Amino acid sequence: MQINVDKRTWKSSPLPGHIVLVSTVNRYKIPNVAPKSWVSMVAFQPAIMGFGCNLKHQTAKNILETKEFVINVPSEDLAENVWKAGKHQHEGAENLRNLGFTLIPSIQISPPRIQECKAHFECIYDSDNRYGDEIWIFGKVVSASIDKAVLEGSKQKRYKHLNPIFYLEDATYGVLGSIKTIKEK
Ligand SMILES: Cc1cc2nc3c(=O)[nH]c(=O)nc-3n(C[C@H](O)[C@H](O)[C@H](O)COP(=O)(O)O)c2cc1C
Repeated sequence: MQINVDKRTWKSSPLPGHIVLVSTVNRYKIPNVAPKSWVSMVAFQPAIMGFGCNLKHQTAKNILETKEFVINVPSEDLAENVWKAGKHQHEGAENLRNLGFTLIPSIQISPPRIQECKAHFECIYDSDNRYGDEIWIFGKVVSASIDKAVLEGSKQKRYKHLNPIFYLEDATYGVLGSIKTIKEK
């Protein structure tokens, strides 16, 4: 049975989002990290990634000001740290270290990468679209660094190592249960 729901009570749970950590800097190069789950690859050639963010968030403010961001991909072992990072705005290397994130320089841009994450996509602002309080920010990927183990071996092994987490609203997340391949005839 399907239920028609009012959009005010409809949450995004039918579309669980892949959780990432977006790192940015403000104009004084103070780093900030926040979890985001409205995120997607948008194009391969050129490589474009996009994510949705509340316009009041420091992440959006920093990107609109400095035009750069890193999409860091955390694994399940960072889930508790990710939720702590989502509680308040977290700025400054020391505060971020207390959250369990070690900042390392990026290859091409000013915002740092998070060492504990298994993949990092350094992006330069390309464009944005605004909808009410939200903004979708699109960035061109100018550098990507990914754990060797995520790139080598069987697909099962690679995704098991990446062990991504998906936002299921509130304080709940999901992980990949099993990885299956369609047998094409
Ligand atoms: C798992 C998780 C996923 C989240 N996804 C988003 C998101 O996709 N977009 C968004 O604007 N906020 C999202 N949030 C909320 C922000 O991370 C939170 O409001 C944070 O404090 C914003 O920090 P900032 O002001 O430094 O950007 C999420 C929070 C959590 C815990």
